[in-house]
Amino acid sequence: MVYMSKKSKIEITVEVFENQSELPKEIKELMDRAKHARKEAYAPYSHFNVGAAILLDSGEITIGNNQENAAYPSGLCAERVAIFHCGAAFPNQTIKAMAITASSETHKVEEPIGSCGACRQSLIEYEQKQNSPIAIYFMGETGKIIKVNSVKDLLPLGFDAKHL
Ligand code: THU
Repeated sequence: MVYMSKKSKIEITVEVFENQSELPKEIKELMDRAKHARKEAYAPYSHFNVGAAILLDSGEITIGNNQENAAYPSGLCAERVAIFHCGAAFPNQTIKAMAITASSETHKVEEPIGSCGACRQSLIEYEQKQNSPIAIYFMGETGKIIKVNSVKDLLPLGFDAKHL
C-alpha cells in the first residue's frame, strides 16, 4: 500500500529592526517600559530577567516581569504576569502591542529571546478574545528587535477557543 501525502509550507513573516532607535516612537517608548520592568524582575534563582510592556488602544501601558519562587514551578514568566494583569485591570480594552526584553546576570543577551510555549498559549487567548492581532516585539538587552504582527505567528497550528 502506498500512502499519498502532500507537503505544504507554513510561513511567517518577521520584521527586523537593527536597534531600538529604528522603532516607531510609541514602540520605542514601550520597549523602554519593558526594559524598566525587566530591571525590577524577581529572578533570584535563574538570574535571567525578563520585562514585558503592553500597549493598549487608549495609549495606556501596563507591565510585567518574571516572578520566581523557591518552589520553582510556582513562579511565572513576565509575559503572563503582564497579560494576566492586563486581563484583570483592563478587561474591555484592546491590546495593540507588546514589547519583551531579556537580560542575564551571567552573560550578555544580545539577541532577541522568544517567549516560552506556555506564554504563547496564554497570549493567543487574549488575541482571540479581542478578535484583533497583537504585534509582539522581542529584544535582548541590546541589539536588534524582531517583530511579529500577531501571536498566531508564534503558534502555528495552535489551539484556541474557536476550536471548541
Ligand atoms: N522567562 C520569562 O519570563 N519569559 C519567557 O518566555 C521565558 C522564561 C523567565 C522564567 C524564569 O523566571 C526565567 O525566565 C528563566 O527561565
